[in-house]
Formats: sequence, C-alpha cells, structure tokens
Amino acid sequence: MIYTWEDIEEHVAVCTCCPLCKTRRLPVMGRGNRQSALMLIAEAPGGQEDQQGIPFVGSSGEVLDRLLQDCGLKREDIYITNIIKCHPPGNRDPKEEEKEACFPYLKYETYLLKPEIIVCLGRVAAQRIITPDFKITRQHGTWIYRKNCALTATYHPSAILRDASKYEIVKEDFCEIAKKRAQLLAKQS
Ligand code: URA
Repeated sequence: MIYTWEDIEEHVAVCTCCPLCKTRRLPVMGRGNRQSALMLIAEAPGGQEDQQGIPFVGSSGEVLDRLLQDCGLKREDIYITNIIKCHPPGNRDPKEEEKEACFPYLKYETYLLKPEIIVCLGRVAAQRIITPDFKITRQHGTWIYRKNCALTATYHPSAILRDASKYEIVKEDFCEIAKKRAQLLAKQS
C-alpha cells in the first residue's frame, strides 16, 4: 500500500512490474512542486532522463523550460511526470501493457498532488488521460472538466524539435494554461 510521496519513490525505484526494468538504467519518478495545482503529464523518459533519473533533463526539457519561461512559469511552479516511469528502448511508444503496469504510480501521484489543472504533453498522454481518440492536431488547447480538475493537452516539446514552426502554437496553449493557473491562484487568495 502506498500512502506518501516517499512510498511512491521507494516503489518506483525498485519496480519490476514490466520488462522495461531490464533495459532501463534508472526509473524516472515525477518531479517538481508537490503543492502545485498544475500537473504536466508526458509520455515516457528519454535517453538523458534514463541516465539521470530525472524527467525532462534532455533536449525536450530545454524546450519545455523555454515554453514555461515565455509564459511566466518556472519548473518550481509545476509538477511533471510521465505515463510510464522507465525509458522504452529506442524511444518507441510505450506498449499497452507497460502503460497499464505503470498506471498505479500515476494514480498515486495524482491522488497525493490533487491537481486542479492537468496538462497532457503529446498524443500518448492525451489518449491515456483524456480520451483514447484524442487528436492532438485538432484538439490541442481545448479544455474538459472532471470533478475539480481542468484538463487539456498540447504537443509534446519533442514535436517542436522536429518542427520549429510549432513553437508559437504550443506557446499559445501554455499561455492559456498559465492564465488558468493565475485565475485559480487569485480565487484562492
Ligand atoms: N520526454 C518525455 O515524454 N518525458 C521525459 O521525461 C523526457 C522526454
């Protein structure tokens, strides 16, 4: 049974729930502000993350930091995690059974964080969290509401590395997210 952040960390650190435990170097637990109302969920750790055990420390992380900065946010303002905690070899998409095996960790993170805004980064996260037929191209930047939480999705930062013209589109989505967070904080103060 998991009750605390430390419990999740301990379980993730030695997890053998799927075959990725044989190929990973380090599992990558979510990071950031555990009091934040804003949770970002991406797909899976990349190669750099696998080496360091920290999410978004590679080139996608650089793009993410620029996006955050351009809309007035910092890493310390957010909590960021992945659908699966171990690097899939060759950066392939996570398999269904890997996502299912890892999902309890994300559930516990969400339970402890109690985010009021969830942002899915990329198709894999959006299809697992929002709806299986989510189309990033058509639906990025749209919002749905579940219980006390507003959910949205935008392109994964790696999509910007492949196509720099997406930067402005994703920045607009991020600025809307920052606005929603600011409204939330204003209501609470
Ligand atoms: N890409 C992801 O989806 N997650 C990371 O942690 C890093 C890159």
